[in-house]
Amino acid sequence: MKILLMAAVALASFAVIAASGERVTSLDGEWQFARDGGAYTKVTVPHDWAIAGPFKKDGSSATGKLPWKGAGIYRRTFTASVPKDGGAERLEFDGVMARPEVFVNGIKVGGWDYGYMGFSCDISGAVRDGENELEVRASTLEHGSRWYPGGGIYRSVRLVECACGYTLPGTVLITTPDVTRDAATVHVEWRTADGRHEKSFVVSNPVLWSPETPQLYEVEVNGRTYRYGVRTCRFTADDGFHLNGRRYQLKGANLHADLGPLGMAFHKGAARRQLEILKDMGVNAIRTAHNPPDPQFLDLCDEMGFFVWDECFDKWNDTASRRADENLEEYVTRNLRALVRRDRNHPSVICWSISNEIAPAGDKNLDGQTRARVAAFAAAVRALDPTRPVGSGNCHPEWFRDRTVFDALDVTGWNYSHSYAEVHGWGPQPRAVVVTESAAAVSSSGWYGDFPPANKYDFATNVTEVSSFDNNAVPYGDIPDIEFERIARDGFCAGEFVWTGFDYLGEPSPYDYVIKGLEPARQSRSSYFGCVDLAGFPKNRFWLYRSHWNKKDHTVHIVANLGGGGSRAAWVYTDGEEAELFADGRSLGRRRKAAADDYSLDFMRVWPRRETCEENPYYAICDKYRLRWFDVPAGTKELVAVSYKGGREIGRAVKRAAGRPVRIESKLERERDGLLFFNIARVDASGTVVEDASEIVSFSVKGPGRIIAVGNGDARGYASFKATDSHPLYCGRALVIVRREGAGEISLTSE
Ligand code: GAL
Repeated sequence: MKILLMAAVALASFAVIAASGERVTSLDGEWQFARDGGAYTKVTVPHDWAIAGPFKKDGSSATGKLPWKGAGIYRRTFTASVPKDGGAERLEFDGVMARPEVFVNGIKVGGWDYGYMGFSCDISGAVRDGENELEVRASTLEHGSRWYPGGGIYRSVRLVECACGYTLPGTVLITTPDVTRDAATVHVEWRTADGRHEKSFVVSNPVLWSPETPQLYEVEVNGRTYRYGVRTCRFTADDGFHLNGRRYQLKGANLHADLGPLGMAFHKGAARRQLEILKDMGVNAIRTAHNPPDPQFLDLCDEMGFFVWDECFDKWNDTASRRADENLEEYVTRNLRALVRRDRNHPSVICWSISNEIAPAGDKNLDGQTRARVAAFAAAVRALDPTRPVGSGNCHPEWFRDRTVFDALDVTGWNYSHSYAEVHGWGPQPRAVVVTESAAAVSSSGWYGDFPPANKYDFATNVTEVSSFDNNAVPYGDIPDIEFERIARDGFCAGEFVWTGFDYLGEPSPYDYVIKGLEPARQSRSSYFGCVDLAGFPKNRFWLYRSHWNKKDHTVHIVANLGGGGSRAAWVYTDGEEAELFADGRSLGRRRKAAADDYSLDFMRVWPRRETCEENPYYAICDKYRLRWFDVPAGTKELVAVSYKGGREIGRAVKRAAGRPVRIESKLERERDGLLFFNIARVDASGTVVEDASEIVSFSVKGPGRIIAVGNGDARGYASFKATDSHPLYCGRALVIVRREGAGEISLTSE
């Protein structure tokens, strides 16, 4: 990744506003924290006050069974150098859950009402030269959520000081109104207390921002650097999404804001790891389901070349922290404006999303969608950024008797069940559509049961585990193969965002309300939707997507259960057209992917029920996207798959039945932005992971690092992510996250 500095001339023309410019000091690090009237303890910000637990077994599975509801106070001191001739000082918060109030030296200086939105406070009237007391109060007591939202100062805090008037927050707007191959005109405007300022300049031979060339440029305004990219984007009604005039298929993933065992506390290294793993899966777009992400997350997307569907809200009710007596229009508009001001210079952002799955307003739903609300919110967004499309995520087209509700939007996103196809035809002109949520397929990390499920909603009831054969989806969802086929046929649609890239805390369907009558203590605490589990380990489903989406690398991956009683089925996920499978050296035959395009796609209201998946027509489509064998001999010790493309071998995969466990391995998976991710595995003598190992393993670090979280991807676990000296294995594995605290080698011992 390259970042080009602007020509010196352009930089100089921006540095004249203040001789010294803005000085930014991080106020992350150590704070004192007290929860619900308790004693103060030392914590590190970004901080999530509930992630340490304890889990409450019969607590709400929807929000992760974690104690996030409460009120907390954070305190620290900071040193300010207030200039003699006045000057300006402010605090910037990237996100505090929820409804934060900020005090400097006992004087209230500001706050914000939406926990996912950043804000800043002018503290000029309260700050003193030298040491100052800072206090932040937060409360989640009135916040509603359909997933785990965390609590407290979970994103960064900064002090900004400036000798003579700073750039007013969110007022910098960088646009490129005129772009040719040879030159791009860049227009920059910003505001200070003295008024509006603007400047234009030309970049020669601009490199356009795209997933392949995520080229960023920089300008300096008032001593602070702002990045931007040169590119155009739009959604079309009949040819999907275009960047720089060229069609791109959106191969997207939904991501919630939690970072698994780290909870909601933002860590750049953990976000980067998520994006690297998704990039390898072939993902090129992220939907920030369903809230403004951390600003650093967008920086990463800019640098790594991801498109972002930047979503402001789930609903416009208490999930946005809005109290019932607060005016909806004012609240939503103000937060949308804050989002757009904050994020509008990120080239990765390709759409502003005003909501997710909001039903039409009616007598019983005062907070619902109306044509007037949608139009007003779209207009508010466009007033601050005329360059990007405005859209929303939706479901159930049949809810909307008034088909003009979305007329003011540039694109609508539709969740599940091929519903986008219907809306595309809501006359008089075709509409631009995208699948904002596809699949909602579910699986555990490595649990197989005796047979591949025969029906998509056949779920085990003796255990709260979902089969890793990837035959399951929740009632309104579908297996990935069906979604692949829909998108391949419907070229007018911009693509899909799979629900979800990573597992997240809360919403453990089907082991929540989906399985009727499952008592709370048996419900799980985190999702099964992820292609990657909560610890960041790819599930089988990851490889199915990778085989279809990643066009750069070959995929050969075997899905089979060789442990215990085994199962006679095996799948191979590959980008090859054919594969041959060998069981203990004996060929089980070479199979070729089906080429047919006449599979039925509309099983959404009536699903055929069968005794085996082999005979269920719902799965016939699998022959086009995965290769399946149903005759693996019982007791097979080793499967080898050899994959072919154009008749030539492109790769092979091996899956072995594990022998006796002999040791525990700790491998450094990667180090990013000061975090080290260690993969722990119980293995046999040949290094094969013993998939049914679940014992508790203890950890110790050597070198300048400290373990800050542990996890294993089990959606049902109750061991704290923050009890860092030990953790149970799940499917033979665990993850240990170490924070670097100095230079030098760091190693991890597990036993
Ligand atoms: C959708 C919703 C998501 C999530 C998902 C689970 O209806 O928009 O937030 O709940 O279902 O499949």
